[in-house]
Amino acid sequence: MGAPPADPLYLRRSGTSLLIDFSTGEPAMLHFGADLGPDLPDLSLLVGPVPGSALDVPVTLGLIPQASSGWRGRPGLRGHRNGQAFSARLRVVSVECPGGGHPGGNACSAVITQADPDAGVTVRTEIRINDGGLLQLRHRLDNDGSGPYSLDELAAVLPLGRAATEILDLTGRWCRESHPQRLPLRQGTWVRSGRHGRTGHDASLLLAAGTPGFGNRHGQVWAVHLGWSGNHESFVDAAADGRTVIGASELLGPGEITLAANASYETPWLFAAYSAAGLDGISDAFYAWFRGRPHHPGARSGKTRPVVLNVWEAVYFDHRLPVLLELAEAAARLGVERYVLDDGWFRGRRSDQAGLGDWYVDEGLWPGGLTPLIDAVTGHGMEFGLWVEPEMVNEDSDLARAHPDWIAGPAPRTAGGSPSAGDSGPGGRLAGRLPVQWRHQQVLDLVNPDAWQYIYDRLDALLRENNIAYLKWDQNRDLVEMGHAGRPSVHAQTQAVYRLLDKLREAHPGVEIESCSSGGARVDLGILERTDRVWASDCNDALERQTIQRWTGLVVPPELVGSHIGPTTSHTTARTHDLSFRAITAMFGHFGLEWDIRHLADSERDELAQTIALYKKHRALLHSGRMVRADEPDPSLRLHGVVSHDGGEALYAVVSVATSFAEVPGRISLPGLLPDAGYRVEAVYPAAGDRRAFLQAAPPAWLAGGAEATGRFLAESGLPMPVLNPEHGLLLAVRRVTAAGPAADLAAGSGHAVRNS
Ligand code: GLA
Repeated sequence: MGAPPADPLYLRRSGTSLLIDFSTGEPAMLHFGADLGPDLPDLSLLVGPVPGSALDVPVTLGLIPQASSGWRGRPGLRGHRNGQAFSARLRVVSVECPGGGHPGGNACSAVITQADPDAGVTVRTEIRINDGGLLQLRHRLDNDGSGPYSLDELAAVLPLGRAATEILDLTGRWCRESHPQRLPLRQGTWVRSGRHGRTGHDASLLLAAGTPGFGNRHGQVWAVHLGWSGNHESFVDAAADGRTVIGASELLGPGEITLAANASYETPWLFAAYSAAGLDGISDAFYAWFRGRPHHPGARSGKTRPVVLNVWEAVYFDHRLPVLLELAEAAARLGVERYVLDDGWFRGRRSDQAGLGDWYVDEGLWPGGLTPLIDAVTGHGMEFGLWVEPEMVNEDSDLARAHPDWIAGPAPRTAGGSPSAGDSGPGGRLAGRLPVQWRHQQVLDLVNPDAWQYIYDRLDALLRENNIAYLKWDQNRDLVEMGHAGRPSVHAQTQAVYRLLDKLREAHPGVEIESCSSGGARVDLGILERTDRVWASDCNDALERQTIQRWTGLVVPPELVGSHIGPTTSHTTARTHDLSFRAITAMFGHFGLEWDIRHLADSERDELAQTIALYKKHRALLHSGRMVRADEPDPSLRLHGVVSHDGGEALYAVVSVATSFAEVPGRISLPGLLPDAGYRVEAVYPAAGDRRAFLQAAPPAWLAGGAEATGRFLAESGLPMPVLNPEHGLLLAVRRVTAAGPAADLAAGSGHAVRNS
């Protein structure tokens, strides 16, 4: 092994920095958080004392925290060789800065290699800070020993600033994904485990910790996300020595990863962000990373997000060509640009009890194939999209009958055995227990190359034979007892799904893919690397969506979050909402409809056409600007908006989610504009006189005619709010009218900072 590098590694970019010292021979993580400036700090200032009755050396918090350095918190690496070599002593072998930087200088990326020749393992770590400040880190472990190495866990962690005293993460369930929860950070470990074999409805899209009461736009925040769609854990580990780490790892099953000699395991990417300005700063870092990708929808790729009609809540499994054609015509007249045929089109699929796996157009229902519908849709100038659920199989399907051994389960399912007790398998023709069904379905074992190839070929054929621009790729069950050949296989299954998506995209580069998973059970940066949007929830109730979208949007920008206007009365909550509230909610996402729009009243059809036009007018801004969310003190009100990066325009939504404690709701602040520029604010939707949305004897004067004020005034003082009825919203369009604005008036206290006009 070579001598450890003399210089520390100092990665800095976009206000964030990471400092790693190598003087002990181990990469010691000294700092992750705010940029510490261009000059390397004196590292001796960052090393603490040795306490009494303790290990006799200062304990290093390693890039991979390890007991061989005295670390007694959650270990970074757990593995062994049949019980031996259980505690690695990794020491640095090399540090490279591929971006042209050098250790000790200011670089943005590095590769650190550590090895323990006695344990026979080498770990290579890639770290980079992207433009915008999002840090990425992943490890690859190589088994250099002669025998197999059993890997139990390899975690990616970062040091958490001492100022962080409060944790925020997300949780949820079907139809209620991405809801926040907060708790104090205490000594010990806070772990969020996902054992769903998919990301999970309850997954914490982000695990954050910050200064007391950190909010949307204030406080220091450190946050991590694991880009992985299988089992996982994210955690905050506050050790007894006073140091805290934040990190995540893939959650491996017993014996799931046993590396043969020279084999490797690579962790998913850990994404991490630091913000000195609350959660909006965390979103800025994630959004910049997403939008920096060449294929991301937006100005760079030239792709816009088309208005979608998804027919699911209009027809469910009742596929009748005349009805579907009528829907297409109604959609086209309203300005819809993409028509998506949901579940129910393939062989035997008359309900959710049968057919999954038989990816052939149902000849009985569709004697002419999908062509008559596709031709009508494209003839109206819309794209055609199709629903598929390739990872699943119904026991009642031709596929399961022909290949019962392709159903994944805990035990090898060999032909010819007698069914064991509890075997729910197709006809019980194979030995081996099957997992409990979920929505009458099982998981197809895509680790089996024949099953994988069958699915690839079917999807490839569908895409070749039909003019399909879009797939809604669904995944509707947890993978419990997921096994291949008798061993846990969530890891391999997840990789097989990724490979399937990657190969299909390679073969059909023009096809966009949506990641749906009973709504939002697979929202993560692993799946989003190979799909074009997520379906955040099966709940189209606008009130629920306000929360689901706000918190999904913490990480995922609105152009990647499917968001549809549902029926007037929600199918999942039975709440009834006005069109304006449903539309204002759907607008802050990838907008669409999921509603039987064939028989709307004329007035409703006109209003819907206008909201579609409004979305089209603003979508370039909505899908490129900075997301801002006010720290609104009245819990019944929320304000979010999107401000263009040059501060020239913005679109805000004020939303009332409940009745307010106040008779008059006070002034609503519009943050994020250029303080000294002058702006014109206009209420665009619903109309000022809408009696269902507003309950007031007299509206504030600006509601009908607009207002002009400086960005500073709009942020610090705000505008008097109209009295919005609960479960209603108000859309405000803002544009800059003067570069300097009436700032001088404000400073002089002339009282003319706001003009009703
Ligand atoms: C899942 C999806 C829905 C719909 C149905 C079809 O629940 O989340 O949007 O596609 O499947 O079965």
